[in-house]
Amino acid sequence: MTQTTHQQEKLDVASDTVLDVRNLSTQFRTQAGVIKAVDNVSFNVKEGEVLAIVGESGCGKSVSALSVMRLVPTPPGEITDGQVLFGGQDLLQLRNEEMREVRGGQIGMIFQEPMTSLNPVMTIGAQIAESLMIHKGMSKEAALDRAEELLISVGVSDARLKMDDYPHQMSGGQRQRVMIAIAMSCEPKLLIADEATTALDVTVQAQILELLINVTQESRTALIIITHNLGIVARYANRVNVMYAGKLRESGSAIDVYKKSAHPYTVGLLGSVPNLMASTEGKLDSIEGEIPDLSNLPSGCAFEPRCTFAQDRCRTEDPSLQAVGAEHIAACWEAEKVQGSK
Ligand SMILES: Nc1ncnc2c1ncn2[C@@H]1O[C@H](COP(=O)(O)OP(=O)(O)OP(=O)(O)O)[C@@H](O)[C@H]1O
Ligand SMILES: [Mg+2]
Repeated sequence: MTQTTHQQEKLDVASDTVLDVRNLSTQFRTQAGVIKAVDNVSFNVKEGEVLAIVGESGCGKSVSALSVMRLVPTPPGEITDGQVLFGGQDLLQLRNEEMREVRGGQIGMIFQEPMTSLNPVMTIGAQIAESLMIHKGMSKEAALDRAEELLISVGVSDARLKMDDYPHQMSGGQRQRVMIAIAMSCEPKLLIADEATTALDVTVQAQILELLINVTQESRTALIIITHNLGIVARYANRVNVMYAGKLRESGSAIDVYKKSAHPYTVGLLGSVPNLMASTEGKLDSIEGEIPDLSNLPSGCAFEPRCTFAQDRCRTEDPSLQAVGAEHIAACWEAEKVQGSK
């Protein structure tokens, strides 16, 4: 994209909207062809809101988050279209050094495997302090004091002692707590957690999620949870975005998406979670067939080959997102029938 940083037009975004993604498209040029990893996706998150992005592996969840953070590897990746409005500006128009300020300073991100994000040869205390020194301009002494407070706030016992530990000396759950402490240290307006609990055992997963919710709710930080775990989404999210083959296919309040699902794919995802509101484990492997090749998508609806509701029209015309309820949208020609079948 062109990097015009100056004179951005006044952007019309509701005052409590933290992030407003509009018509975002990101693709990868590979030998197999152009992969449309994120295709014309729009969504927003408000202050204090928890948005969940769900879908099977390879449907574009991480690339959506990486696009917001401008961390898509380029080449082969490229953000080809759209706007990422945050704090009154389009992040896609910022200079690289301006974007570095936003990253970690105003938007925090937590990934699945903290070992790859933490520095193996730096103590935990020094790593949290470093982030505070860079983004908050704190002195080393003040940053170390604050680092200890942060470790306590994310439930690390013996925080003073743990400050001197190296990442490999900690359990997976504790490392993830440290990542949350680092991500929250700069008081971001938005936190993105991409499969942040997937590598942990079920009990620890629930604890870390509770922690994420608690620390963000306290400061009204907007939270995006990217997950396969539908049970988690049901309990914590305000809104749920369902992605399939790079596209947003359904979006609504958690209750509407679960109780009044309008896309057969959502119904399929829910099929494997018998008691959603009580479950902590959801698997997305219950839908027959596989996700299509993103470099060679069919002309109609990408879900059609796997869909039990499919009609002739679905093979030739890709449905766009339509209202299926109040603040509830879905992209399916048979949405009414799908909702009626529940
Ligand atoms: N660096 C890359 N080069 C080429 N293709 C890529 C690259 N990164 C992602 N993709 C492709 O983009 C598509 C979306 O990938 P993405 O990582 O967003 O999926 P995901 O929904 O996060 O899946 P998972 O649940 O497995 O994390 C996939 O087809 C993937 O192969
Ligand atoms: Mg991913």
